[in-house]
Amino acid sequence: MKAIEIRNKYLNFFERHGHKIIPSASLIPENDPSVLFTTAGMHPLVPYLLGEKHPEGTRLTDYQKCVRTVDIDEVGDNRHLTFFEMLGNWSLGDYFKEESIKMSYEFLTKELEIPSEKLSVTCFKGDNDAPRDEVSANVWKEAGIPEERIYFFGKDDNWWIAGEEGPCGPDTEIFYDTGKEKCSDKCDPSCGCGKYVEIWNNVFMEYFKNHDGTYSKLKQRNVDTGLGLERMTMLLQGKKTPFEIELFAPVMEKLEELQKVDNISSRRIVAEHLRTSIMIISDGGRPSNVDRGYILRRLIRRMTRHLNKLGIDLNELSNLIDISIDSIKEMYPELLDKKETIKNVIVEEKDKFVRTLQKGEKEFEKEVNNARSKGITTLPVEVVFNLYETYGFPQEMTEELAKEYNIEVDTKDFDKLFKEHQEKSRMGSEHKFKGGLAEQNEMTTKYHTATHLLHKALQIVLGEHATQKGSNITSERLRFDFAHPQKVTPEELQKVEDIVNEQIKRGLDVTCEKMTVEEAKKSGAMGLFENKYGDLVKVYTIGDFSKEICGGPHVKNTSELGTFKIKKEESSSAGVRRIKAVLI
Ligand code: SER
Repeated sequence: MKAIEIRNKYLNFFERHGHKIIPSASLIPENDPSVLFTTAGMHPLVPYLLGEKHPEGTRLTDYQKCVRTVDIDEVGDNRHLTFFEMLGNWSLGDYFKEESIKMSYEFLTKELEIPSEKLSVTCFKGDNDAPRDEVSANVWKEAGIPEERIYFFGKDDNWWIAGEEGPCGPDTEIFYDTGKEKCSDKCDPSCGCGKYVEIWNNVFMEYFKNHDGTYSKLKQRNVDTGLGLERMTMLLQGKKTPFEIELFAPVMEKLEELQKVDNISSRRIVAEHLRTSIMIISDGGRPSNVDRGYILRRLIRRMTRHLNKLGIDLNELSNLIDISIDSIKEMYPELLDKKETIKNVIVEEKDKFVRTLQKGEKEFEKEVNNARSKGITTLPVEVVFNLYETYGFPQEMTEELAKEYNIEVDTKDFDKLFKEHQEKSRMGSEHKFKGGLAEQNEMTTKYHTATHLLHKALQIVLGEHATQKGSNITSERLRFDFAHPQKVTPEELQKVEDIVNEQIKRGLDVTCEKMTVEEAKKSGAMGLFENKYGDLVKVYTIGDFSKEICGGPHVKNTSELGTFKIKKEESSSAGVRRIKAVLI
């Protein structure tokens, strides 16, 4: 079965079980510049898991494009991917464990025709925060999974949360037995030997982890499930790695044909990073030196390096992009329109990297001369690491150069420095994820409404081009990114602030209506997130002042907001300005 068929079966199955199919959100969280990428199907749904009403109801299903970059350096082995597609179904305060498990079991055994004997499951074993999940285990038993294939594990294995705080809960994970021998008597689904492969995760999200580490019950009991499409396709096709399925195979074959040096890990890295770069660029990402732009840059650079390593002419890149897009265009037809842009961005970045490599080599030469003049015969590890960090030179490339220059290099502590660096960036991205899922409370609700007032005021003062490019809200402040070619003058900022405060004083009612995207546009609502919420959208109207498509939540009347004060205006990226403001 091809990946697209599995996806269609999944969406149709859940549609038949009362779910509304919603579109995949962008890989780049549109309303939240502080989060790097969409990492799970639940991510765009957080407000609804917390109790906001979703315009499409309480049962949803979708396929979601996801990028997870924590394991970027693992890509090249037989399983890690940075881009993957997650199929998901959600209950927003609707069904819970029993129905969820029964549907999953039916889908796997009837629709995908996986023999029940191939399945093992794990459930939460219970602790001081939440009880042992006997309910799920019993439903599994009734469904047909015998007790010896039902395992219980603690929070490390059977509890799901995005980041450090937010909605979470015990999960039950479904594993596929590949038929490999057990690696030991103790081998079970928590073992990484490859016998058991996790295929689906059903999270029973009824808790919220607070900042102080304690757990509270959510307003409603939700189900959030995620099934990795590439992995499932690989298993159903009896393949050993995702690189053998139709989404990667044509690029892998072409690379094999072109290579002068055989290296399977390099071929996988090129095929994988190429696809992720294509998907990120298609959703609007561009290479840069910060955050998600930097991730994209790293992906393109790493891919270029491995093309070099395979001895493949870099002019082949454009052809490889064609082949990659061709293999996935049925899944993501939006790529076809963007093909030229995607090619331009990747090829331009590759050219830049080639120039950087040349500069890096000069830097290396300088270090060598410097060392020789001091009579040093071995380059210290810091030099090796600096070349890696600044010029993207991997350790082995520096070692190769060193050989050419006839000098020793110390690489003993490279791994240590590398791990420290990796840990730092991992902490960085986790922190960002947390920031993106900022808690919803009275203050954040106020800031949501203040953001609408600010958006409209900016359009009045600066012009209609000043549309939203991003928004991030915490309990302490709002941050708003908008299109504008130059610095906003202090006079303009004062005007914007005055207009917002005037609307607060007027005590305007905030009302909400549901309508289709088309009706919303016709009504003059500012609509930023086309398609994001499917056909039906919520339109929030603030008196006679603003009308905007938004998921909410909002205050009832602007008089609740207090006084609005702009704290800072700065550049965010080319053609985009950023305002930070508070309510006092
Ligand atoms: N949020 C869970 C996961 O990402 C289930 O969708 O695994």
